[in-house]
Amino acid sequence: MKLSMVLVPVFTMLSFSNLSLDHLNPYDIPHHINISWKTDPATSQSINWRTTELQKISYVEYCEATASPFFSNSVQRQKAESNAHTGDDATWNYHSVNLTGLSPNTQYSYRVGNGNFWSEWAEFKTATGKEEDFTFIYFGDVQRDIFSMGSRAVRQAVLQRPDAKFFLFGGDLVHRGGLNKENWNEFFPTGGWAFQNIPILATPGNHEHIVAKSGENMGQQWYYNFTFPENGPKGHDEETFYVDYNNIRVISLNMCRYKYAEDRKAILEWTEERLKEFKGDWVFITHHYAMHPSARNRKPGLRFPEFKALYEKYKVPVILTGHEHLYARGRIDDEFPVYVVSVAGPYQNAIQFQGWEERTGTSLQLFQEINVSQNEIHYVSKTILGEVYDEFRITKSENGEMKYTIGEDLPPQSLLPPDRFEERYKKELVDSWEEDLKNYLILHP
Ligand SMILES: [Fe+2]
Repeated sequence: MKLSMVLVPVFTMLSFSNLSLDHLNPYDIPHHINISWKTDPATSQSINWRTTELQKISYVEYCEATASPFFSNSVQRQKAESNAHTGDDATWNYHSVNLTGLSPNTQYSYRVGNGNFWSEWAEFKTATGKEEDFTFIYFGDVQRDIFSMGSRAVRQAVLQRPDAKFFLFGGDLVHRGGLNKENWNEFFPTGGWAFQNIPILATPGNHEHIVAKSGENMGQQWYYNFTFPENGPKGHDEETFYVDYNNIRVISLNMCRYKYAEDRKAILEWTEERLKEFKGDWVFITHHYAMHPSARNRKPGLRFPEFKALYEKYKVPVILTGHEHLYARGRIDDEFPVYVVSVAGPYQNAIQFQGWEERTGTSLQLFQEINVSQNEIHYVSKTILGEVYDEFRITKSENGEMKYTIGEDLPPQSLLPPDRFEERYKKELVDSWEEDLKNYLILHP
């Protein structure tokens, strides 16, 4: 027997050895691992993670995935870009890598770490870059009781659609974007290992900013925790951007900057260029603030009239939003777009009906499965128990004409006022609720 035949498997096992988890603080190993995209989903994958202050240098090890555990000889290593940041809980090192030059439609295995401190191996698969049927998942605000209650949405979505190609978060992933405690330290365990296998895309909400009320001063953790594209207007990197996944374009707009005339102009012009140039099949736009403030205690009125006009001009099929902490779906004045407002987390608002809503919901945690094919968007909104709550299809004929069809046999709308309704809302908003609800249900039973 040749010596090498004996040694190779032994070496393989040793090279993948790790300290037993038994004696480690969970933060000693790389954590908050998530994958996303900075560049083309068919040929690249961005990977982000956090380590303790002591682990200043960190690596990604990766290779094409095999079912065999004996793959150490094909592993490549890439050093991360690393930044130390002192948060409210400790100083951490944030690491990121953008793997490029990957093969389309290929599964890869990877792990992150250094020395004795490594994550487990996980897999991701690059996009085909071709037209095919696929699904992605949308989440409205998670924001509060993130780990305790928000995790119900993420985990049920994974159980329902483990084949989802990515998660799209519509902002307010956390309540205080500048804090780790009770915020980012809860958000990542909320997705657990799923964030290591299924890429995340997200648009910033007002709560990712330090001044949450007005959405000013982005918490630095946004840029450290994620690696998103830098293809937006100048100075809007990783906030306003687009990703082309096969035949669809996903556009994130950080509308917290809308209030500044210069930013508003830059985002509007950039969005028009992205809509004009797109040759694929479907565009989805996400921004945190809904087009209409639908929460009962907010001043009614259109938030972004110039953008509404742009969406109508380019017939954007679907706009995915949040911020209102309730569910609403409908059109405003025109046949398209269909506006969606959703909420994944437990904090809920009572609704203020404004006439545009075709279906609504309150006191509900939801997520959306968005199934895309060349000629159809099939949208299914589910509760965190996996029950269908809302459904519609948008089909496109050969001449590009779109048709919108609402699902049949939908369950009754959940319109229970949220917890502490009478304490949280002004008396006149409480007193007028029954009448408003009755009038809405006459039109939308
Ligand atoms: Fe918000």
